[in-house]
Amino acid sequence: MERTLSIIKPDAVSKNLIGEIIRRLEENNLKVVAAKMLHLSKKEAEEFYAIHQEKVFFDSLTSFMSSGPILVMALEGENAIARNRIIMGATNPAEAAPGTIRKEFGSSIERNTVHGSDSPETATFEISYFFKENEIYHY
Ligand code: CMP
Repeated sequence: MERTLSIIKPDAVSKNLIGEIIRRLEENNLKVVAAKMLHLSKKEAEEFYAIHQEKVFFDSLTSFMSSGPILVMALEGENAIARNRIIMGATNPAEAAPGTIRKEFGSSIERNTVHGSDSPETATFEISYFFKENEIYHY
């Protein structure tokens, strides 16, 4: 069993896609083991995405991620990190495979509806950024 962090981003929350996205995750045997709705400050978005701080899109990314409410979730399942990334599709919706969340609902590389951890190390950091261990359900 593996855990990953999933974020439903402000564009998807504002388009009423929370239920549709969770349905797709659950349908693919990813279990929601923690969840909360938050509106990040710019500083929190910068801390969370610190790994990208040198990138040209950092300011735009963190402004967008603090522009409205998000739903953060810890997901659990076999190979949860890789499987969540397959279900999400490529970062750029234009390059994402048909049937993936980003292909169907994303409108740009920035407004790409969902975030998912990309490695065990980032999953550990990202889950602990939002959840204490006693806020995560243990099956
Ligand atoms: P995410 O999975 O949340 O991780 C970092 C985010 O940065 C990524 O999804 C994109 O939304 C965003 N991103 C990556 N590359 C670019 C880019 N070239 N321009 C704007 N945003 C980007």
